[in-house]
Amino acid sequence: MGGPSDLQIAQPLTLKCGLTLPNRLVKAAMAEQMAGPNQLPDERMLTLYKHWAQGGWGLIITGHVHIDDAHLGAPADPALSPSLPSDTLITAYSALARASQTTNPQSASPPKRNQPGHTPTIIQLNHPGRQSPRGAGTRSLLTPALAPSAVPLSLGPGLLARALRVLAFGTPKAMSVAEIEGVVGQFARAARREGEVGEWVEQVRAVVEEGVDFVEVSGGSYEDPKMIWGNDGPDGAQEEKSDRTKAREAFFLEFARLIRKEFPDVPLMVTGGFSSRGGMERAVVDGDCDLIGLARPAVLNPLLPNNLVLNSEVKDQDARVYRRKHKTPWFAKFLGLPVIGAGMDSQFYVNKIHEMAKA
Ligand SMILES: Cc1cc2nc3c(=O)[nH]c(=O)nc-3n(C[C@H](O)[C@H](O)[C@H](O)COP(=O)(O)O)c2cc1C
Repeated sequence: MGGPSDLQIAQPLTLKCGLTLPNRLVKAAMAEQMAGPNQLPDERMLTLYKHWAQGGWGLIITGHVHIDDAHLGAPADPALSPSLPSDTLITAYSALARASQTTNPQSASPPKRNQPGHTPTIIQLNHPGRQSPRGAGTRSLLTPALAPSAVPLSLGPGLLARALRVLAFGTPKAMSVAEIEGVVGQFARAARREGEVGEWVEQVRAVVEEGVDFVEVSGGSYEDPKMIWGNDGPDGAQEEKSDRTKAREAFFLEFARLIRKEFPDVPLMVTGGFSSRGGMERAVVDGDCDLIGLARPAVLNPLLPNNLVLNSEVKDQDARVYRRKHKTPWFAKFLGLPVIGAGMDSQFYVNKIHEMAKA
């Protein structure tokens, strides 16, 4: 292997929309849970994204932003409230875009798209479906979450898990055709607004052309938090995985290969489990994916591309990224609530994100 600048993961990738990602390392989506008034990003979130902006990422994806403030994944999630004037939304999210796209926080204006010093940033739009707990969003406590079908979440096999599910989530309402069309419309409007705040317009163009710029292969839910545990379940994830094989390193590479077969021309991003420069490079060189998504390691080291993976002073054997893993506590196993372990893991990272947003 030559120096990091020769690696495939260091090479730019131009998306169908014309946006060039300077390298293949992507700060993956992580819900920040720190929206200000009206579920809009405020100064804390700008400070947070200024940290990531200086990391040398090929692309930054924000944590999820909900298309409807009645249905949030958590009470402090940001949203594009349909009741707010467009100007208010555009001003708030433009500020976020500027913070995230500027590698030099001292510069007065953000560098232009595809120019040095510019970090491409996109916003992740979301509707949480049945994973919207009571109290998260402007709907009343008794108004159910909306989902494709009226199947409740399962948080575990025990009685307590069932009771918790009833209290926290209830049973979702199956959406009517009109409600489905309403949500589709909200996604389209939210995407148009993204378009008004910068390069996100390119995403819209891609949607309009009924094409996509790239597909992210990731996965997991409250029921089965694969994004935290990987395929080995809660206990397997406790061991630091070796990088003997790339299949063991990233969680979803095998699935990515299937997608690649079906859609050979669509750039693929795989997120989850990548832990070494070598493993990331092999995944791209072997053609399993084009972009490497990193979430938890981006919290522990926000400058990870610049100071580690793409840094020529760091030897291959030292170019490893880390995740702090939490053992599923005994009481969670005892109570039949394994999801508590994944929740504690996520909360650790959310707390770290909040610390980053302070300075
Ligand atoms: C605190 C936290 C918040 C997350 N929020 C989101 C999110 O908003 N949207 C999403 O698609 N994935 C979310 N994820 C999943 C990550 O994007 C990623 O798939 C997962 O952490 C596995 O990648 P990693 O092993 O590099 O951390 C979140 C993960 C964590 C730890």
